[in-house]
Amino acid sequence: MKVIETAAGMKRARRQESGSVGLVPTMGYLHKGHLSLVSRARQENDRVVVSVFVNPTQFGPSEDFVRYPRDTERDLAMLAREEVDVVFMPPVEEVYPNGFNTSVEVGEVTERLEGACRPGHFRGVATVVNKLFNIVQPNRAYFGQKDAQQAIVIKRMVTDLDMNVEVVVMPTMREEDGLAMSSRNVYLNGEERHAALVLSRSLQQASDLHKRGERSAEGVRRAMTALIEAEKLAEIDYVSVADASTLAELDTIAGPALVSIAVRIGKTRLIDNTILGTD
Ligand code: PAJ
Repeated sequence: MKVIETAAGMKRARRQESGSVGLVPTMGYLHKGHLSLVSRARQENDRVVVSVFVNPTQFGPSEDFVRYPRDTERDLAMLAREEVDVVFMPPVEEVYPNGFNTSVEVGEVTERLEGACRPGHFRGVATVVNKLFNIVQPNRAYFGQKDAQQAIVIKRMVTDLDMNVEVVVMPTMREEDGLAMSSRNVYLNGEERHAALVLSRSLQQASDLHKRGERSAEGVRRAMTALIEAEKLAEIDYVSVADASTLAELDTIAGPALVSIAVRIGKTRLIDNTILGTD
């Protein structure tokens, strides 16, 4: 497994490959969710590149960029076990050198949900993913449904800018008790870890209501909100029941709906989602 820190070095390594390349972009502090993407990439491509880069431009000024968890040695050991060919791990100055002054702005789908709570977040994500695609030139790139809106934004960018990358979206990996795996779960203390179960429980409740015939989006939002508010440590950022492709909030659930939530547990902001109406 090669570890490459410069864009020039990554491009050189890419030129030497003739087969298909799968890219898994990450911010490191890897868990089984990340590894599920790596494992799919391993199955589908001749070469697998994983990028590990905590991207400063997608964090707001009061967010957790500085304290975002990092453990390079552990990440590299996990990736070596997955038989990854190249880890691209650039320092910040390599991605954003002096004078850097361009960004990629995806339209409407970035204005809702995470985009509304975290201004500029998706500009940072789209810009860095665009750069990673240009540097690595993958045939396929792997993203998690855990960040449902991010996957939609990347697909929009790839379509709109005619990028030659196939975007593959993989299901959310969860802990046994239902908590969606996330690098940020490490922030939770024991009491908060327990309280955090309210996210997956509220999504389960949405699925149950839908199965029993509930088609009012507001009915689903209200029930979820009540359940989450009953947890003292939880503070809701949003509870959304939206069209799964446009992310417009729904009145009536007719086609596939994305139920997504952002909830603060203490100081830790967690997101999770489920899709209704595909079964
Ligand atoms: P990061 O949060 O490290 O996530 C990297 C990828 O892993 C994303 O596509 C994310 O959706 C996926 N992922 C995270 N938790 C998951 C889980 N429990 N199950 C399945 N997949 C999961 O997302 C980012 O980094 C960044 O925004 C990035 C795309 C790398 C751009 O900086």
